[in-house]
Amino acid sequence: MQEEDIEPVMVLERLAYEFPWSEGNMRDCLKPGYSCWVCLREGRIIGHAIMSVAAGEASILNLCIHPDLQGRGLGRKLLKQMLAIARQQQADTAFLELRRSNRTASSLYDAIGFNEIGLRQDYYPAKKGREDAILMAKVL
Ligand SMILES: CC(C)(COP(=O)(O)OP(=O)(O)OC[C@H]1O[C@@H](n2cnc3c(N)ncnc32)[C@H](O)[C@@H]1OP(=O)(O)O)[C@@H](O)C(=O)NCCC(=O)NCCS
Repeated sequence: MQEEDIEPVMVLERLAYEFPWSEGNMRDCLKPGYSCWVCLREGRIIGHAIMSVAAGEASILNLCIHPDLQGRGLGRKLLKQMLAIARQQQADTAFLELRRSNRTASSLYDAIGFNEIGLRQDYYPAKKGREDAILMAKVL
């Protein structure tokens, strides 16, 4: 992901998430220590992924596929690519968190071998009140 990708990435971010990151969140990740990627199809950005890697730990902070193209194996491919990059950067464990209601992401992370390691109660804003975050980890 480059500076000029931020605008199309934000369009995608807002399409895919009910509670998207702000542009500031996205810009803050374009700095050393963060691995920011876009997924291109015929020159168009159709996905993005953001990960921080430090002290042997990779945190997958964002993983997103265009809603029109979900369910075709792209999310799995992008996640596997991020884990390969994490290994290249000497990470031995990958972490992520997700909303309890995010069944698609939860099935994907289960299938890839992530295990639930904890819960942050009422962590995310939700349409009605707050929603728990599930913390997951995978040994690389
Ligand atoms: C989560 C996300 C990245 C998955 O990407 P995707 O391209 O839709 O997923 P894939 O087609 O690669 O599917 C991978 C696995 O996810 C699960 N999955 C995919 N679509 C699903 C659905 N509609 N319902 C339940 N599980 C589903 C399945 O386990 C699937 O594996 P399978 O095909 O072997 O059954 C994508 O749906 C997305 O961008 N969602 C909005 C943003 C988001 O929630 N990101 C995750 C934040 S934690």
